[in-house]
Amino acid sequence: MITDELAPHHRLGTDRVRRLIGTSEERGLERPGHQDRSEESEQPPPEPPLARTIRLPVRHEAGYYDAPHLTELTRAATRRNAALERSLERWTRRLGFPPSCEGFDRRMTLNVGAAWRAYASYHGAPIASRAFVAARIVVAPLAVLDEEVRPLRGHMLSLGCGVAIVERYLAETNPRLEIEGLDIDPRKVDLIRTTASRSPRVRLRLADVEQLDEPPVYDAVLVCDLLHHLPAEEHRRLAAAVERCLRPGGVCLVKDLDRLPRWKYWWNRFHDWIVAGPEPITCRSPEETARLFAEPGLDPERVERTDHPLTPYAHYVVRLRKPPAA
Ligand SMILES: C[S@@+](CC[C@H](N)C(=O)[O-])C[C@H]1O[C@@H](n2cnc3c(N)ncnc32)[C@H](O)[C@@H]1O
Repeated sequence: MITDELAPHHRLGTDRVRRLIGTSEERGLERPGHQDRSEESEQPPPEPPLARTIRLPVRHEAGYYDAPHLTELTRAATRRNAALERSLERWTRRLGFPPSCEGFDRRMTLNVGAAWRAYASYHGAPIASRAFVAARIVVAPLAVLDEEVRPLRGHMLSLGCGVAIVERYLAETNPRLEIEGLDIDPRKVDLIRTTASRSPRVRLRLADVEQLDEPPVYDAVLVCDLLHHLPAEEHRRLAAAVERCLRPGGVCLVKDLDRLPRWKYWWNRFHDWIVAGPEPITCRSPEETARLFAEPGLDPERVERTDHPLTPYAHYVVRLRKPPAA
């Protein structure tokens, strides 16, 4: 505080500051408890400076604030928020985001150890095959499938299992499961045979699933990313064949790709064109797939998109159960 009563050794500094900002009197301020005694009798005490008035908003019972400027600000913010929400909603619909990302949230619980062991089981395979396996680990919704398969036990049939990386991962996370894969591609079947000793609970057989005719001995059937590679007219027949090979109470798990949004569909089309060739693909919505497999008598239990809005694959999962024997 700058005062006239400061000790002499402070004077120099005080004078310099006073030149810059003036004395208290020149600035019209009064320090409480201090008055210039020489002029005490001649001058009336200066007016106290006006306190800055701060009007606090008053809250009424109804929960509104009686402060017009605040009310206007609040209204403007509400208008902006509503506009933002509308625009987000529009984009959500346009980009085809699923209404809920619950499935994706669960996807974050990938068992990294199991994924690594499944990958390592391809030790000795050509480098191109191992690169493909690594890419499949990144793209496939392994954690969602893991969540579905973990409660199962016994024998599972996997249709169109490719190089069986999904099945090897699932066998790593669930030791009570034996998996038998079928695939039409002899190179994939050979690859699995050469590395079979590192994942002995997963076997692979060369077979065409369009001719599927297995006895009812399986506790579960997995149809992972096969359906869209089969002609549309084959889907109904496949669903009936799956129902026949399940034991009563058995579970059918279909993982496939939705046809919406279009940008995800075209991305998947491009992916398959690179990986599998130019043959057309037939994607269905999760609801259509559920209806298709319900026709021969399976009961749908879960029908859910599990992709994240920003990832390019429109993954979905449909779980159905064959009714238990009466
Ligand atoms: C996109 S890959 C999926 C592979 C594996 N299920 C996965 O998720 O990694 C489709 C697989 O289905 C196989 N496939 C296509 N048509 C088939 C058929 N008629 N019978 C058996 N397998 C078939 C292909 O050889 C290919 O390995």
